[in-house]
Amino acid sequence: MKETVLITGASSGIGLELAKCFAADKSNLILVARTTSALEKLAAELCREFQIEAHVITADLSRAGAAREIGEELKGRGMAVDVLVNNAGFGLHGSFAELPLHRQMEIIHVNVAALVELTGLFLPSMVERNRGGIFNVGSVAGFFPGPNMAVYYASKSFVLSFSEALHEELRGTNVRVTNLCPGPTETNFSQVARSHRIRQTRVSKMSAATVARIGYEDYQQGKCLSVPGMSNKILTTVATKIFPRITSRRLVGHYNKLM
Ligand SMILES: NC(=O)c1ccc[n+]([C@@H]2O[C@H](COP(=O)([O-])OP(=O)(O)OC[C@H]3O[C@@H](n4cnc5c(N)ncnc54)[C@H](OP(=O)(O)O)[C@@H]3O)[C@@H](O)[C@H]2O)c1
Repeated sequence: MKETVLITGASSGIGLELAKCFAADKSNLILVARTTSALEKLAAELCREFQIEAHVITADLSRAGAAREIGEELKGRGMAVDVLVNNAGFGLHGSFAELPLHRQMEIIHVNVAALVELTGLFLPSMVERNRGGIFNVGSVAGFFPGPNMAVYYASKSFVLSFSEALHEELRGTNVRVTNLCPGPTETNFSQVARSHRIRQTRVSKMSAATVARIGYEDYQQGKCLSVPGMSNKILTTVATKIFPRITSRRLVGHYNKLM
């Protein structure tokens, strides 16, 4: 039987590439983001190329109640979600005291609150059916404190901790939980975050297609953590062990400074 996969933030970047990975394996899709035109274009392309069904839901996940409305809409259409991909997210570059507070609260709504609420809406029926999974897109940022992007890094720490805990709760069942933790990736992320003039942008970026492919394969293998790229693997394993936290936060602060 074909799985139905709901992907948030499918209108661009990593989410769009994840949609292609699931479609190529003949999953039906529910594509969610704010930009309806981009979602409809992708849905049409994937239906034509892979003979799948792809549905579009326009939603602004920074709004309280958006996740619940998605749940109600799917219930109304009689659709169940087998796999939930919580990918929508954004960050903002700047010091916490100077950035607009309402925009920082939006990071928490999109990256954390909507992710938890959608998981809470769809996970119980996956557990009941003993199949399916949750695929959360976190970040290498989740392993460190992040001066000059404080709320974003903290939001991804939440995603890392939450995903690992769920993975452990569901060990021994057929429900998978994976946290994909990309490093710098070629997408619209740094334009949205206004972080395109900081030092970290000098490091080479992976393509969104490669990141999505690695995450998808790791999810299929039931891995808890998926960290694409050797330098990101070293950062999240060796660096977190050898550097004391004071060193990590100083280094990340330096890396997140304007050039
Ligand atoms: N690129 C990187 O370097 C990098 C590194 C590590 C982790 N990540 C993570 O990867 C994920 C995907 O980001 P990306 O790099 O692919 O960037 P992107 O190209 O900017 O994609 C972000 C996606 O999230 C959606 N989104 C943003 N705000 C939303 C809202 N309020 N409601 C609904 N959807 C919203 C966007 O769609 P609309 O604008 O159409 O709503 C878009 O589809 C994020 O969670 C990000 O934190 C990225």
